[in-house]
Amino acid sequence: MLSPLPHVATDGEPAPVIAPARTFADSVRFRDAMARLASGVAIVACLDRGQPRGLLVSSLTSLSLEPPRMLFCVRKAAGSHDALRQAHRCSLSILSDQDAEEAERFSAPGRATERFAADDGRLGAGSPPVYARALVGLTGLISGGADAGSHSVFFLDIETVEARDATPLVYFDRAFRTLDPAHSPGRP
Ligand SMILES: Cc1cc2nc3c(=O)[nH]c(=O)nc-3n(C[C@H](O)[C@H](O)[C@H](O)COP(=O)(O)O)c2cc1C
Repeated sequence: MLSPLPHVATDGEPAPVIAPARTFADSVRFRDAMARLASGVAIVACLDRGQPRGLLVSSLTSLSLEPPRMLFCVRKAAGSHDALRQAHRCSLSILSDQDAEEAERFSAPGRATERFAADDGRLGAGSPPVYARALVGLTGLISGGADAGSHSVFFLDIETVEARDATPLVYFDRAFRTLDPAHSPGRP
């Protein structure tokens, strides 16, 4: 749990973890603005009673070097949310631009059963599973979290890192793209 921020008035009530603003930006304008934030994407995966589960996230951030710690956020309604809350460990597989299709599979509602179905070695046999073709594969201990309303924030203390030379898959303006201007896999 995060401690309340000093400037947040609580009126004698226990402080919410995230204090809502008094006035909100228009949600359509906010969404349009956030479409301009380019981000890398990663598959978050954990084991749920021995079965791999996961989803695509762009909310990952490198939080600190000492300890090596990342954070990511998952919507409470997501199929893997509760499994992640129960899990002690999970993996983050940052995708390369060769894997726009994998990104689609891990972000399409209703395709959860397809996500770990391929038996071709790409999905990795580790625990938790790391995507074998990941640009960067990380595993770690879920060391904490925070309630953020519709989403939970997870803190991940990194235990293993594998990186390879490739070009990242980037999500920008509602499409998967590459940094290589000659090739953009998800260009609308
Ligand atoms: C580029 C991109 C980034 C996403 N980032 C997140 C994220 O950070 N957190 C999250 O909960 N969902 C995120 N999503 C949405 C989930 O991937 C999507 O809702 C997925 O279907 C959830 O898994 P489920 O179908 O098993 O519920 C993102 C989707 C896309 C296309």
